[in-house]
Amino acid sequence: MAVDLVLSDGILIVNDRETVQSLAIDRGKIQGFYKHGKEPASRKTLDCRGLYILPGLIDIHVHLRDLNQSYKEDYESGTMAAAAGGITTVVDMPNSDPPVLSREVLDRKIKSATSKRYVNVGFYSGIPKDIKSFDTSMVPDILGLKVYPHSPLAKGTIYDSKRIRACLGLARRHNLPLLFHPDSSDKTDIATSKEEFFLIHSCESEIKSLQMFLDAKVEYEAKLHVCHVSCAATARLIIEHRAEHTLTAEVTPHHMLLSGGDFPHSDGHAKMLPPLRSPYDTKMLAQALCQKCAIDCVVSDHAPHSNNEKTAPFLEAASGIPGLETMLPLMLTEVFEGRISWIDFLRCCCSGPAAILGIPNKGILAEGYDADIVLVRRQERYITGTEFYSKAKITPFEGRHVLAKPITTIVGGEIVYHEGAFNVGPGIAGRVPIRKI
Ligand code: NCD
Ligand code: ZN
Ligand code: ZN
Ligand code: ZN
Repeated sequence: MAVDLVLSDGILIVNDRETVQSLAIDRGKIQGFYKHGKEPASRKTLDCRGLYILPGLIDIHVHLRDLNQSYKEDYESGTMAAAAGGITTVVDMPNSDPPVLSREVLDRKIKSATSKRYVNVGFYSGIPKDIKSFDTSMVPDILGLKVYPHSPLAKGTIYDSKRIRACLGLARRHNLPLLFHPDSSDKTDIATSKEEFFLIHSCESEIKSLQMFLDAKVEYEAKLHVCHVSCAATARLIIEHRAEHTLTAEVTPHHMLLSGGDFPHSDGHAKMLPPLRSPYDTKMLAQALCQKCAIDCVVSDHAPHSNNEKTAPFLEAASGIPGLETMLPLMLTEVFEGRISWIDFLRCCCSGPAAILGIPNKGILAEGYDADIVLVRRQERYITGTEFYSKAKITPFEGRHVLAKPITTIVGGEIVYHEGAFNVGPGIAGRVPIRKI
C-alpha cells in the first residue's frame, strides 16, 4: 500500500545531530522513517535534499485579532503568516474586540477561524471581573486562562492577592493553566513621557507582579505560566522556583535578541509590552533558555497593529509587533551560529509549548504523531516587513541578517505552503479548535 507522501533524504535532527533520512506521511500522521532507497511507495514525493525536516513550530502566544479588529489582522492573514513562517499551530489570546469572556464570543472566533485557517488554531479565554460568572461551557474548547493584571488591559479589575488566588483556584478547578502578563503598573500610572513609559513598565514592575503570583500560588497546585519574561532578574526568580513543576515560562525572540537602547523610540516601531530591555537582560535571557532551564518555550507574541497605529509618536503608538514570520528564521540563526543547540531549539519551539498546554500528538517528529512539519533551507537573507503575509509589516527586525528560510509547511499531512505559494485553503488543513488531552 502506497503512503500519501514521502519527504525524501532531508536532514533530520536525532540526539542533537544532523542525519539524512526520509520521512513518510500517511492519513495526516507520520508513518515512519527510512534510509535512502528503503522508502515505501508513495502517491507523492518531495525531494528534501539539503533541507531540514523539522516539527512545525507551536506558538502559544499570538494575537490574531479578527472580529472588530480585522483591520489589524484576521484569521486568514494571521494563519497565512504562521504557515509562511513555519508555524503549524497557534494559540490565540483573548484580548480581542470583543474579548473572549463568553461562549458566544468564543463561538464567533471558532467559526471565523474554522473557515479562514491555514494552520491549527487553539484559544484562551479571559476571566470576567466577577469570577463566579465565568462561563464554564468554554472549558472543553480552550487551552488556558489568560489574565492581564496591569492597566489598561485589566479594564479596572484590581489584581490584589485575593483576586490572583481566586484566578488560580478557577484554573485549578478546570485543570487549565493560568497565563499572566507580569506587570504591576496600575491605572494611576499614566506615562507623560517616553522615560516614564519605561519606568512604569520596568523590570521592578515585572518582578513584583511575578512575586505576587508566586506568593498566591503557594496554596494551590494550579499551573502558572509566565508570559514574555523580559528581565534577567525575572528569569532568576523563576529559576529559584524551578522545583515547582507547575511553573512554566516563555520568552520572545525580540526580548532575547534586541535591546531598547538600539532604537530611537520616536514612534512605535519598537514599542511593545514588556518593553525591550538592556543588553545585559538579553544576554541573561539567552542563558536562561540554554543552560539554566528557566525558559520552557519561545513564543512570538505576534501583536499586529495598523501602520498608522505604529507610526504615531511613541506615547500614542500601539504596543506590539508582528512575530509569526520572524521567529523561525531568528531562532534557527541562533542555532546555525552556535548560540542555541538543536535540543534547546526543538524543546522551546516545538515540544515545550505542546507540553505546557497538554496539546496531544504534536511538537515532535515521531511515528503516529500529527504530520505538522516545516522544511527549512539554510540560506542567507534579510528580514523585510513588506514581504510579510501578516497585515502588520513594521518590525524592529527590519533588515536583519538571518540564515534560514521556511520552504514548505505541512499541516496534518497537507502541503499548505510551498515556495512562496499556498496550495490549499483557506479552511482545509489544520484543526480548530485545538483541544488538550
Ligand atoms: C499585546 C497586544 O497588542 O495585544 N501587546 C504587546 O505589546 N505585547 C498585548 C500583550 O501581549 O501584552
Ligand atoms: Zn532516498
Ligand atoms: Zn502580554
Ligand atoms: Zn501578547
